[in-house]
Amino acid sequence: MDAFSIEGQKILRGETEAAGSKNASLPILAACLLTEEECVIENVPDLRDVRTMQRLLGILGRAAERDGRNIIVRAGSATSVEAPYDLVSTMRASISVLGPLLAKEGEAKVSFPGGCAIGDRPIDLHLKGLEALGAEIEITHGYVHARSRGLAGANIYLAGPNGSSVLATDNVMMAAALAEGVTVIQAAALEPEVVDACNFLVAMGARIEGVGTSTLTITGVSRLHGCRYRIIPDRIESGTLLAAAACTGGEIFVRGARADHLGIVLESFQKAGMQVQSDAEGIRLASRLPAKPLDIETLPYPGFPTDMQAPMMALLACADGTSIVTEHIYPERYIHVAEFNRMGADIKLDEHIARVRGVKKLEGAPVMASDLRAGAALVIAALAAEGTSLVRRIYHIDRGYARLEEKLESLGARIMRVTE
Ligand code: EPZ
Repeated sequence: MDAFSIEGQKILRGETEAAGSKNASLPILAACLLTEEECVIENVPDLRDVRTMQRLLGILGRAAERDGRNIIVRAGSATSVEAPYDLVSTMRASISVLGPLLAKEGEAKVSFPGGCAIGDRPIDLHLKGLEALGAEIEITHGYVHARSRGLAGANIYLAGPNGSSVLATDNVMMAAALAEGVTVIQAAALEPEVVDACNFLVAMGARIEGVGTSTLTITGVSRLHGCRYRIIPDRIESGTLLAAAACTGGEIFVRGARADHLGIVLESFQKAGMQVQSDAEGIRLASRLPAKPLDIETLPYPGFPTDMQAPMMALLACADGTSIVTEHIYPERYIHVAEFNRMGADIKLDEHIARVRGVKKLEGAPVMASDLRAGAALVIAALAAEGTSLVRRIYHIDRGYARLEEKLESLGARIMRVTE
């Protein structure tokens, strides 16, 4: 298994480039199943989850081949409607083929996603939305089996106890694009990745009003066509790189990063004392340590993203005072806390609230990545720590960060991929 060996306390300086968004790419690749024509998706990051989605499309009969930064989903029709357990269990976003297969093929069988390291992740909203469109859904032998003899538009309220859902909004919107009549989704997710998926559907010929708002009105069309579409930059990757620079006392420019997608994250860096400047070309952050403590609450967009909670906590671990972090989206998304504490952090958990008492410095240690963002946060902590750290199980990190070690190394980090 691969690990990162990281020698800490090297100041990150220079320029790097934002990758295309993982969480926009995955549902957009799934949406290609809505047409038999070829789609060319530009700026798709080359990472493990994207390769898993390419394999899944291949199993469903639609070859999805990489050509440089683009993925070409070849023309053709689905030859299978089943997303098998071994793929879904490695990537929950596989659930986003449910809506497109159901709408286009009239049937979908997707392995029911189980629990994962960041806690309970139900799919009731996906199923509620598709049932409202007329799907018959059965949970059998660990699979969600959805069937329809023609979907019909409906009014659907799509929020759960923790607010709107990104992939449920995508799934219902994709199915509604080919349903007969008008669908209104209330409490639609506002994340930039959902807006990207809407824009992609519109580029395929879908009729969607209210793009970027919490009410989406979708008038079904009888067919969608192929198109060429460019994925937005990955706001979480950009935020992670900025957090790494902040933690090491460095100064970096992330070319292509979009400040309009990172509003509250950039404001949080500023409140922590960092200097942040942005323009159409990208975002620059100059670190001023020690960071000031912050109170952070994760919320649906435009609130503070849960995916930035762990990376930001790496900065707060060494802040000059006590920070309070409240996780509202995934109340159990704190597996990194025990690992941070092994590096000398002082973080106490009280259910979904973390009290982060800043320490003078972190110490290098062997630690283990438990999920994608927790893993990235441990890398950031290791970059700032005194001495050498070994971050194990980095296959989690490889799921969502393309060439992370190369990017960090080009900014001055001492990081090496080793095979244990
Ligand atoms: C997306 O997951 C992202 N994944 C996640 O990224 C991200 O953490 C999450 O949105 C929140 O922003 C992709 O885009 C591929 P949700 P998703 O449904 O859509 C509850 C990463 O590290 N809920 O918006 O699955 C749920 O439990 C990851 O890249 C229901 O109650 O998340 C949570 O509390 C991991 N019922 C809240 O909604 C449902 O049917 C928001 O989750 C669905 C969700």
